[in-house]
Amino acid sequence: MPGVFKANVDGPWIDPDTASAEELAAIARACPSGAITYQRHDGGADERAPDVNTARVRENGPIALHGDLRITDQAPCMRATLCRCGASQHKPFCDGSHTSAGFTATGEPATGDETAALAVRGGALEIEPRPDGPLRVTGNLEVLSGTGRLVRRAEKLTLCRCGGSQNKPFCDGTHRSNGFKAP
Ligand code: FES
Repeated sequence: MPGVFKANVDGPWIDPDTASAEELAAIARACPSGAITYQRHDGGADERAPDVNTARVRENGPIALHGDLRITDQAPCMRATLCRCGASQHKPFCDGSHTSAGFTATGEPATGDETAALAVRGGALEIEPRPDGPLRVTGNLEVLSGTGRLVRRAEKLTLCRCGGSQNKPFCDGTHRSNGFKAP
């Protein structure tokens, strides 16, 4: 929506009056990082958590979470892109450093054995960045490839954020030997 979000300009770069509230809300909900949020003042419905918590693996980039997210020390949110290359200066969030770091990782990891349907697919998803270690995720989560193929369903898992796992996007313990440091 270039009429609203203006790239490469000096000064104000958002002009929300050029679109309807409904259009703006739809754009905000499509923002994977959660950098754009909205609050309706016209009686329209605010964003609500999805019925299914998902994590999408981005090719050579972060992992994009959508759900009722409870990230340690952060306000609850519904969308977030979290670093999995280890290079972000804004951990646990992605800051785009994967590009300059030359991070390469498939967005199409193989589908594993844990694909049985979960009894409940949404609900609060606790995400705890472990010191010098992975993201510990507790709650109902469906991990999807970049093209949307199911990779894994679980109620508890650990996601690599050091960039070194041989089993990305999951932690395989490599962070213990590659010197990964993160709060
Ligand atoms: S955090 Fe990368 S292997 Fe554990």
